[in-house]
Formats: sequence, C-alpha cells, structure tokens
Amino acid sequence: MSVYERHVFVCTRGEWCPAVDGDGLGVHARLKALVKAAGLADRVRINHSGCFSQCGNGPMLVVYPDAVWYAGVSPDDADEIFERHLLGGEPVERLRYQPATMGPHKLPRDESGHVVR
Ligand code: FES
Repeated sequence: MSVYERHVFVCTRGEWCPAVDGDGLGVHARLKALVKAAGLADRVRINHSGCFSQCGNGPMLVVYPDAVWYAGVSPDDADEIFERHLLGGEPVERLRYQPATMGPHKLPRDESGHVVR
C-alpha cells in the first residue's frame, strides 16, 4: 500500500519546464494550493522534480501510481487535472503526453531557446 493515494511530480528543476516553455512553477503552486484547500495533503502529495528528459514538451508532470504523464500543462490546466484525475481518478486525455505524436523526447531548439518542431 502506498503512503499517498496519488503522488504528483512536476518538472520544476529542469532547464525548460519551470519558466521557459511555460509556467511549471505555477503548475506546481496551483496543484499544491488545490490539494491544501481540499484538505487532502495527507492523501495527495505534490512534489518538485528535476528534468524528465522529455524537454520541449513541457511543462510536464507525472501522476503515480497511475504513471500518467502530462505535457504542455498550464496553471489553469492544473485545476482540471486536480478535479478530474486527482479527485475523480480519470486522466485528462487532452493533456496526456503522447510521445509517439509529440516528436522526439527532446525537441530541438533554435539559438534563442525556442522549440523547433
Ligand atoms: S526541463 Fe522539464 S522535462 Fe526537461
């Protein structure tokens, strides 16, 4: 049995997800606030994480024990992930990481750091 019912890792320590490709830090903060407000801190854990080595597809997070990866998540998306997945148990399919269709695990970048697709 797990210590937590769901354990979420948000890429906030990588080079790109936290603040370049989106607002990974904001995603982490929003999820943390939602869990706290719902009184679920003893059942759902939101953690910072280092790079997932899937750079360019972020901001990214992963939910365990479901092993569901999300890509391109915004702080507003965090509300939907919280409601539907963390509370309801149903992954948010529109945000799910699809490595087969989203390109290489590390997308190339131009000189200014923007992702080149
Ligand atoms: S910086 Fe987030 S996956 Fe690499």
